[in-house]
Amino acid sequence: METVVSGIRPTGNLHLGNYFGAVRNFLKMQADYNCYFFIADWHSLTTHPKPGDLHNNVRQVLAEYLACGIDPEKATIFIQSDVKEIAEFYLLMNMNAYLGELYRTTSFKDKARQQPENVNAGLLTYPVLMATDIIIHKANKVPVGKDQEQNLEMARKFARRFNNMYGDIFPEPKPFTFDGADLIKVPGLDGSGKMGKSEGNGVFLVDEDKVIRKKVMRAVTDSGPTEENQEKAEAVQNLFTLMKIVSQPDVLAHYETVYNNCSIRYGDMKKQLAEDIIGFVAPVRERILDIYNNEAYLHQVASMGAEKARESASKTLKEVQSLIGFRSF
Ligand code: TRP
Repeated sequence: METVVSGIRPTGNLHLGNYFGAVRNFLKMQADYNCYFFIADWHSLTTHPKPGDLHNNVRQVLAEYLACGIDPEKATIFIQSDVKEIAEFYLLMNMNAYLGELYRTTSFKDKARQQPENVNAGLLTYPVLMATDIIIHKANKVPVGKDQEQNLEMARKFARRFNNMYGDIFPEPKPFTFDGADLIKVPGLDGSGKMGKSEGNGVFLVDEDKVIRKKVMRAVTDSGPTEENQEKAEAVQNLFTLMKIVSQPDVLAHYETVYNNCSIRYGDMKKQLAEDIIGFVAPVRERILDIYNNEAYLHQVASMGAEKARESASKTLKEVQSLIGFRSF
């Protein structure tokens, strides 16, 4: 069975875009692959050196993924910092990562521009740590979005370099690419572009019903169609796209019809859309709260994940140590 590795930085709450873009695919993958899903708390320090509360951020993300249906019996779910083998292997990987290639990385240049007061070494070697996360489990596939493609390319380069220097032990980690029904881009509520963490245009899985209603009622539209079957402005199309994701097909069909004959009232459509979003989010939110407050369960999941991840990681680390030439006396 092929192995999949994916990391999530604990720097914000999950929104609908995350759910329908990534998490839903994780749910499918956990059935068909040997999956390692982990919370990249070390990585988060490169941009959030003094997080308000690192532990609670990790706890929140863990609760959210579990509430969405990531199953600790099917996938290995762990916290990066619980697996110290990653840190040792990362140190070794750093010896064969060159400053030139790290400085040239787009994400490093972007981050250096965004936080000029904190251009730390961890930021520079971010791709090395990410490559380590991946190859320590000998991953074959890594589901990543566009923004992570270059980091994955570097992981392949580092894996190849290791293989050439010390012996062929790592498969090339390939991008897990989705298409068709598996590639849902969820638009934001601000009229253009996709739903994002920092754009302020999202509905979070922990949002209360009234927050969701408020956000949806404020969504950008236009002044309404004036001709039959008029093409939709992006903002309006976005509401229809959201409706297609969360509403029943006949509800969507109804609003298509009234849009096309120019009798649509966006207020009615938004009310409906808000209720349908709530229908999806509310049960997930309740599960998140339950799990978040269940410390015993979280402890059990995290220790079981750490144990499974460490088993796989230490096996690789031993091979690596011996290939490089470390021997104990
Ligand atoms: N860099 C990834 C992101 O920001 C998170 C990450 C860390 C990751 N290690 C990984 C993703 C390993 C995939 C595989 O989204």
